[in-house]
Amino acid sequence: MSEHAQPSFAAAVAAITALLPERLQKPRVGIVCGSGLGGIVDCIRELVLVPYNKIPGFSESTVPGHKSSLAFGLMGPGEGVPVVAMLGRFHPYEGHHMRAVVYPIRVMAKLGITDLIVTNAAGGLNPKLAVGTIVVIHDHLALPNISGMNPLLGPLMSPEHQRFIPLSDAYSPALRRLMFLAAHHLKLEPSALAEGTYAWVSGPTYETPAEGRFLRLAGADVVGMSTVPEVLAAREAGLNVMALSLVTNAVVIPDGYRSIREEVLAELAGKRVELPVADVVSHDEVLEVGKAKGEVMMKLVEWVVGSIPSG
Ligand code: 6GU
Repeated sequence: MSEHAQPSFAAAVAAITALLPERLQKPRVGIVCGSGLGGIVDCIRELVLVPYNKIPGFSESTVPGHKSSLAFGLMGPGEGVPVVAMLGRFHPYEGHHMRAVVYPIRVMAKLGITDLIVTNAAGGLNPKLAVGTIVVIHDHLALPNISGMNPLLGPLMSPEHQRFIPLSDAYSPALRRLMFLAAHHLKLEPSALAEGTYAWVSGPTYETPAEGRFLRLAGADVVGMSTVPEVLAAREAGLNVMALSLVTNAVVIPDGYRSIREEVLAELAGKRVELPVADVVSHDEVLEVGKAKGEVMMKLVEWVVGSIPSG
C-alpha cells in the first residue's frame, strides 16, 4: 500500500466474505499471532485460510516464521466461537507504512469482531521474568507515540471516529481476569503467567545495553517491536483488547561495561583480567522459545475465547 492510498474496507470485506461459508463470515474475536505462535490454527475447527494476497489493501509479511493468511473458523467448546486469526503481522521495520500495519485490524473490526487478542514475542527487561514466562500486558510505554510516530497520526477514519483516544484503560481488565482464570483452569504454575508493561520500540535492531537500562528504569517489564499499533487501531474501533507477551530472551542489562581500557592497562601491567561479555540475542532463539511455549499460549487463548461473554 502506498503512503497515500486509501484502501477500500468494503472491497476487503467483500473479498473475504466471498471465500467463507456463512457461519464464519461474522467472527466475534480477532487474534494476532506473533513470532512462532501461528500454531493457533491447530485450535481452529472448520478452518478456512484467506491469503493476504487475495485481500485488497493487505501487504505481505516478510518476517521468517510468519505465514501470510487470515485464518477463519470456530474455537472453544460446544458450538464454538467464530474467530479470525492473523497468521503473520506487519511491522513498521519491514518498511510498511503505519497505515498498512493497522489495516488488518480495521478490516477485522469491519467484519464485526468485538474483542482482539494480540500476542507477541518479547525481550524480558524485568529480571524476575524467566524466559518462557507469558506476560499479560496491562500498560505500555511507547516512545514512538510520544515523539511523533503515533500510528494514529493522520486524518480521522470517519467523522464518527474519536479524535483523542484515552489509553488509561486500553487493556481490558475483564479479559485480563479471564486470562488468569484460564491459567488456573489449565493448572499452570502461578509463575507461568505474569503481568507487566510492554515497551514498544520500532526495531529492527535489538536494544543496546543503555537502551535496555533506560526502558527498565522507565518502568517497562518487556520490550518488543509490535503490538502497540494494533492495540491503538483496535481501541480506536472500540474493541476490547488483550495483549500477551511471551518472554523469549532476557535483555541483559549489565550495570557497567566490560572496560577495554581496564583490560589493556592490566595487560600492560602484566596482569590478567577477564571481564564478562554481554549475551547477544538472535532471532532463532526468539523463534525457538516461541515454538516451545507457543502451545501454552494457544491453550490459554483458546480457553479465554471460549469464555468471553457473548453480546
Ligand atoms: Cl530483546 N527486543 C526487542 N525489541 N524485541 C524482541 C526482543 C528484544 N526479543 C524478542 N523480541
